[in-house]
Order: sequence, then structure tokens, then C-alpha cells
Amino acid sequence: MASYIIHGGQRLEGEHTVQGAKNSALPILAATVAARGECVLHGCPDLSDVRATLAILEHLGCAVKREGGAIIVDSSRLRGCEIPGCLMKEMRSSIVFLGPLLSAMGCANLTAPGGCDIGERPIDMHLEAMRALGVRVVEEGGRLRCDVREGMKGARCSLYFPSVGATENLMIAASTARGITVLTNAAREPEIADLAAFLNACGAKIHGAGEGTLVIEGVEQLHGAEHTVIPDRITAVTFLLAAAVTGGEILLRGARPAHMDAMLSVLEQAGCRLRRLEGDMLALRMYGRPRRLPTVRTMPYPGFPTDAQAAFMALAAVADGTSIITETIFENRFRHVSQLRRMGAFIRVEGRVAVVEGRRHLHGAEVDACDLRAGAALVVAGLAAQGETRVRGIRHVDRGCERFEEDLRLLGARISREEDDLGQPEEAN
Ligand code: UD1
Repeated sequence: MASYIIHGGQRLEGEHTVQGAKNSALPILAATVAARGECVLHGCPDLSDVRATLAILEHLGCAVKREGGAIIVDSSRLRGCEIPGCLMKEMRSSIVFLGPLLSAMGCANLTAPGGCDIGERPIDMHLEAMRALGVRVVEEGGRLRCDVREGMKGARCSLYFPSVGATENLMIAASTARGITVLTNAAREPEIADLAAFLNACGAKIHGAGEGTLVIEGVEQLHGAEHTVIPDRITAVTFLLAAAVTGGEILLRGARPAHMDAMLSVLEQAGCRLRRLEGDMLALRMYGRPRRLPTVRTMPYPGFPTDAQAAFMALAAVADGTSIITETIFENRFRHVSQLRRMGAFIRVEGRVAVVEGRRHLHGAEVDACDLRAGAALVVAGLAAQGETRVRGIRHVDRGCERFEEDLRLLGARISREEDDLGQPEEAN
């Protein structure tokens, strides 16, 4: 099992360029299936989830190549609508191929998606949204067979919760449905607006992305386009936290601070000095020990993101005072707590609420990255801790963070990677 070995207590200082957003790149890559032609995408991070998405595209008959930093996908020779279970289980966002396949082929044969084990993660809203557009959905024996005989028809739909993935699937499918689709209680994440910008560049007519109600005028067909994905707000804040817990300073280049308001406000209240500079730059400086965090409650955007909850808990673990963190999005997203405790953190969990009594010092320990964001949080904690920390199972971290340890080393961190005995990749989660 591959691990990070961290010698904590080094003050981080320097500059970091923010990677492109995984959660934008994955649905946009899937959406290229619906855009029958060549799409040129800039800024897609080089991650195992991106590679898994490209494998699905190739399986479906798309031509995929990398040129410079760009990924070029040509879906004009798409030949299938079935994704085998071994590719589906690589990651949760494989379900976002549902809308594109229905748009391009009128059918989609899939199995249940994989991904981080952070809760039940049902797909009922995705299926309801497809049914609303006239799709016949049959679920049997773990397989999902969807088809639409006479093309999809625009409809009015409402989500009972603003699901990111269900909004993405509906947006892509409705782009080529006949007539107008209105989706209320849609997710408002910046990645939704980014997907809409890409689809609109491909000829779609999507209005209101990022505002909660989406109006989609169906068009006959989408075409290829060129697009640059937005910066990753979660990895950006992970680097800010890494600097903060070590009493350091960092300049982020290519950040989009406007997407990070809820997180930046917590950092400021915890005592970090932040400066938003021209040209999408963001500077953080931390003097001394962080103060306790204001109450953190994860919420759909523009609220505090669930994906940043674990890393902020690492900050709370060394802060002066008691912080309260409530997770409302996923039911199983406190699995990092037991690992942080091994490092000396004092955390009580009652249901969905974690009470974190900050300690001046954490100590190194052997810990397990149980999911992507938990793994990044343990690295942040390891950077703050005294002594050596070994974070095992970092394949999870590879799913979302590009060149993580190299970039931390450039800031002065003492972190290295140790492959498993055989140097073989671990089983995907
Ligand atoms: C996306 C992000 C993930 C982030 C999450 C919430 C990607 C690739 N992943 O995941 O990093 O943590 O948004 O911001 O973009 N739900 C249902 N039924 C459904 C769909 C969702 O009950 O049909 C529930 C989920 O179990 C969860 C909540 O709704 O409790 C939010 O899920 P959703 O917004 O769909 O998250 P994802 O799109 O899976």
C-alpha cells in the first residue's frame, strides 16, 4: 500500500499554482460524448479519476489524445452505449455518462458507480430526472438499462436536494431534448456553471447556471468546442491550510477566490491573514497558533463545501479553543476522526456533529487515508505534527490531488512517497 512519509513541523513558504478542478473536468469530459465532434480541453488535472474517465471515453469509441497540456476528445465515432462494471466502479462520477450517452445514442447501459466510501450515495434523483425527459429506466441485478425510443422531451423537474451529479446529468441530457426543460432546486456549484459554459460553447442553450433554476432550450445537436476548466477550489484551500497549520505563508496563483468565500471566511476568523490580489492570486500568512474555528456547517454551494470539511478539521485540531463542525451532506464523512485521534487530536463525535478541542501539538503516527479528502486532511495534520507521520492508502489522494507531494516539497515540506513492496498500484476503491 503506497504511503506518504511526513516529517512535520516545517514552516511552509512559497508559491503554488492551483490545478484545474477535478469536479469540473470529469463531467465536462463525459459531456464530450454528447458533443459530436472534436473538443479541446485545457486545464484538466492529471489524476487517476481523469485517466479512468478517458478509459471510459476510449471504450465508447472516442478518440482521445493529449497535446501539450490539453486533452482532445473526438466523439464522432462513438460506437457503444455500454460501460462495463470494471470501468464504472473506478469512481462515483462515472454516473455522469448517463446523460451524455442518452443524448448521443438514445441508450445507456451502466452498473452502479464506485467512488469514495463517504455514505450511501444513491442515484434516485439522476434516474428521476431522466424519467422526466421520457427515458425508460430498468434496474435489474445491479445493472441499469436506459433507453429513449423517440428522443427526449423537455420537461419541468425539481430536485428534492440540489445534487451536483443529478444537475449535471439533466443539464447534458436536456441540452438536446425537444423543447424547454426547467430544473428547479438545481445545484449552484461553480462546477455546474463551468459545465454549462462548456455545453453552451458546444451550441447548447442553458440559462441560469449557478442560480438555482436552470432553463434549457433543447437544440438539435451539439458540436465540438474548446474550453478551459476552472481552478480547483478544494485543492486550493488544502494548500492554504497546509501553510496555515505550519505558521507559514503562501501565494496561490490561478485561484478563483470568488468560489471560495465560505472557506476563506473561516480561515480569516481562525486568524489567517488573507489578501486577494489582482490576476486571480491569493496570499495567506499565518502568525502563531490558529484561533478556534467559527461554527462550520457543510452546505450546498455557496455554503461551506463538504469536500473541505476534513482538512479544516485538521486546522481545528491544532487551534486554540473548541470548534464545532457539522456535516450535513454525507452521512459517513467523519472517518478521518479516528485517524486524527491517533495523532493526538481531541475530537468527540455526536451524530453529524464533531466537537474538536484544539491541542497545541499533534504527534506523528501511522494513519490510513480512508477517502480522498480524508487523506489530504491527514497530510495537513502530518505537516503540523511533531515527528514522523505515515499516511497509508494514498491511492485515494491520487484521485484528486495532482503532484501533491512534489508541490508541498517545493514549499518546504518534508514529505516523500513510498510505493508498496512490489511498486504495484493498489486496488481502486
Ligand atoms: C459531487 C462531488 C463531490 C462532492 C459532492 C457534494 C463530483 C465528481 N463530486 O458529488 O466531490 O462531495 O458533489 O458537493 O463532482 N443524493 C441522493 N440521491 C441522488 C443523488 C445524491 O440522495 O440521486 C444525495 C447524496 O447521497 C448526498 C447528497 O445528495 O447525500 C449530495 O450528493 P451530490 O450533490 O449528488 O454529490 P455528487 O454529485 O455525488
